[in-house]
Amino acid sequence: MSKSVLLLPGDGIGPEIVAEAEKVLRKVNEQFGLELTFDSALVGGSAIDATGVPLPEETLSSARAADAILLGAVGGPKWDDLEMARRPEKGLLGLRSNLELFANLRPAILYPQLASASSLKPEVVSGLDIVIVRELTGGIYFGQPRGIRELENGERQGYNTYVYSESEIRRIGRVAFETAQQRNKKLCSVDKHNVLEVTVLWREIMDELSKDYPDVELSHMYVDNAAMQLVRAPKQFDVIVTGNMFGDILSDEAAMLTGSIGMLPSASMNAAKQGMYEPCHGSAPDIAGQGIANPLATILSAAMMLRYSLDAEEAAKAIEAAVSKVLDQGLRTADIMSEGNTRVSTAEMGEAVLAAL
Ligand code: NAD
Ligand code: IPM
Ligand code: MN
Repeated sequence: MSKSVLLLPGDGIGPEIVAEAEKVLRKVNEQFGLELTFDSALVGGSAIDATGVPLPEETLSSARAADAILLGAVGGPKWDDLEMARRPEKGLLGLRSNLELFANLRPAILYPQLASASSLKPEVVSGLDIVIVRELTGGIYFGQPRGIRELENGERQGYNTYVYSESEIRRIGRVAFETAQQRNKKLCSVDKHNVLEVTVLWREIMDELSKDYPDVELSHMYVDNAAMQLVRAPKQFDVIVTGNMFGDILSDEAAMLTGSIGMLPSASMNAAKQGMYEPCHGSAPDIAGQGIANPLATILSAAMMLRYSLDAEEAAKAIEAAVSKVLDQGLRTADIMSEGNTRVSTAEMGEAVLAAL
């Protein structure tokens, strides 16, 4: 039975990296007889330029209909002065909330070949394999009320609301416990229980859920300590579960443990396991158009897509093995370049993965 993949290249380096991932997907599609069909649509700044809005109705309906979505990145200086509701990032956030993609998995795995590309000492990061489970459709990103208002004294005040309901905490908690069950059975819930009531509830629900997963060892950590521990001794973690904003910040931090943010893929799923897959990084306006961006996070996101949404584990493994092989060959984009390696462009990296498949 054929399955449909919607490509959303977006802005900045988005089209450059999605083009490479698309080639890789088309190749495994043939090799493994997957019967995937491909379509693409506009989101973010490119959608604003073409239609006036960051998430056109047509894109949303194509996204709803697709079996899986691969997104590049959105945003850039061109659109930074737009009011909040019309910014490119709203396109991405709108996809996440409309499709209820509440479970965001961000695995940070250090390829041994990249040990010297990490800014940490090799012994601190070698063998690193952790997953951050980030809640993606709630918390302070979506809480109401929000805005900028004028106070009686005439000064303006910005405000956002940090909220989580029990059911939102419970559903992301279950995904995290199940993820831990399939791994080393250690789950660390990251919160700010000492200051924020939302996370008092968060911790209570995680403790309650842990009774259903007696084989998983649950611990709790404050987010500030977690940020420190991630660079002090990251291998103490197996699975981390946390809210939307803490997860955003900690996952960029974890990316650096793997050598570059250009290496970190992600999966965002809803209850029906429909998923949107994207690199954790942004549109990198500083290097867009130069053909030097690292496409591996996007290519690895495509592998996650095959695994979680397209029932094609073999093809996913083949892509991951091909990436590893290319790293063995010493090929590196600028962000992961070390002495003795061969520097390649975005397209050359994509071609090398194709050749390794
Ligand atoms: P960024 O992740 O785009 O870039 C941060 C730094 O990492 C830059 O120096 C960039 O060159 C580098 N980098 C990122 N991806 C890379 C890659 N694949 N290869 C090599 N280097 C890479 O973050 P930013 O600069 O804070 O944000 C830029 C824009 O992207 C903003 O508009 C922001 O809102 C948006 N953004 C979008 C997403 C997304 O679409 N998922 C994620 C983060 C940021
Ligand atoms: C990410 C990004 C997004 C987020 C932005 C672009 C809305 O930083 O996917 O990590 O904050 O979730
Ligand atoms: Mn982010």
